[in-house]
Amino acid sequence: MHRASLTAIADEEGTDKGTVSPVGLAITGHNYTDVYDAYLNGLRDRPIALLEIGLGVSGPAWKAELATGRNAQGGASMRMWYRYLSKARIFGIDVNPAGFLDNDRTATAVVDQGDPDRLREFVAETGVERFDVIIDDGSHRPDHQQVSFSVLFPHLAPGGLYFIEDLADNGLGDGRVDRYSADHVVNTRRLLRAFSEGGEFPEPNALLEPATLASAIDSISFYCPPVSGERPRGLRALLGRRPPTVRFLGGQEALCVIRKAAEAG
Ligand SMILES: C[S@@+](CC[C@H](N)C(=O)[O-])C[C@H]1O[C@@H](n2cnc3c(N)ncnc32)[C@H](O)[C@@H]1O
Repeated sequence: MHRASLTAIADEEGTDKGTVSPVGLAITGHNYTDVYDAYLNGLRDRPIALLEIGLGVSGPAWKAELATGRNAQGGASMRMWYRYLSKARIFGIDVNPAGFLDNDRTATAVVDQGDPDRLREFVAETGVERFDVIIDDGSHRPDHQQVSFSVLFPHLAPGGLYFIEDLADNGLGDGRVDRYSADHVVNTRRLLRAFSEGGEFPEPNALLEPATLASAIDSISFYCPPVSGERPRGLRALLGRRPPTVRFLGGQEALCVIRKAAEAG
C-alpha cells in the first residue's frame, strides 16, 4: 500500500516542518520531516500519545505568521500528525485557543508553556500516564523551552522522544531582544550541547530539578537539516523590520531529540 510520506503531508498541510513554505515567499520549510520520519515511521500504526507545544494558530496572545496560505486557519502540524499516525492520540497546547482542531483523536488546550503549574494541570487533565513523543515548537524562548522540558520530560515514557525545534534560529536566546529572547538563561542549544559533552547543565538555566532530569536522559542528538533555499527577502516585509540576528540553518544544530532512558520511570 502506498502511503504519503511525512514530508508530502507536511507540505500539503502547510507546516514549516516540511520542505516548502506554507506562505509563499516569506518563510521556507525547515526540512525536519525526514528526521522525524526516521524516528517515528515504526510508530505510524501504533496507539501512541503525542504532544506538541505550539500549534501555529493566531489569536489574542500571539500572531502566528505561519497561519496563512495553505495553512490559513493554522494548526498544520496537528493535521499532519493526525494523517501520519493512524492510531495515535494527538495532544496540542498553545497560548491561543485551537478548539477547531479537536476531533476523534486530537485534543487541544490553552496552556502557556512557560507556566509550570498550568503544564502540570494540563497533563493531569489529559489523563495520559506517559506520552511517547513530545515536540516543542512553541515560543522558542530558552526559558520556556527549559521549563516545559522540566515539567514534561518526567511524563515521557521510558525510551520516549522529546524534540525541540528551531534551536539555531529562534530559541537562540543570548543577546536577543525580540519576543524569542530570554537573556537571563543560557540558550537551550548550548545547555544541551554542554550536557551531552560534559554531563552537566551550565548555568544560569531555567531547569527545575536538573539532577532528576539528568539521570533520566539516555541520549541527545542534534540535526542540521539542509537548507532548501536562501532566506527570502520577503521575511523583512513580513516582520516589518530588519530580520533578527538569525543564523540560517546550514551547518547548524537546528533540531534536537532527547531520548529518555529505557529504565527511567
Ligand atoms: C512556530 S508556531 C507553531 C507551528 C506549528 N507547530 C506547525 O508546525 O505548523 C508557534 C506557536 O507557538 C505558540 N506559542 C507562543 N508562545 C507560547 C507559549 N508561551 N506557550 C505555548 N504556545 C506558545 C504561538 O501561539 C504559535 O501558535
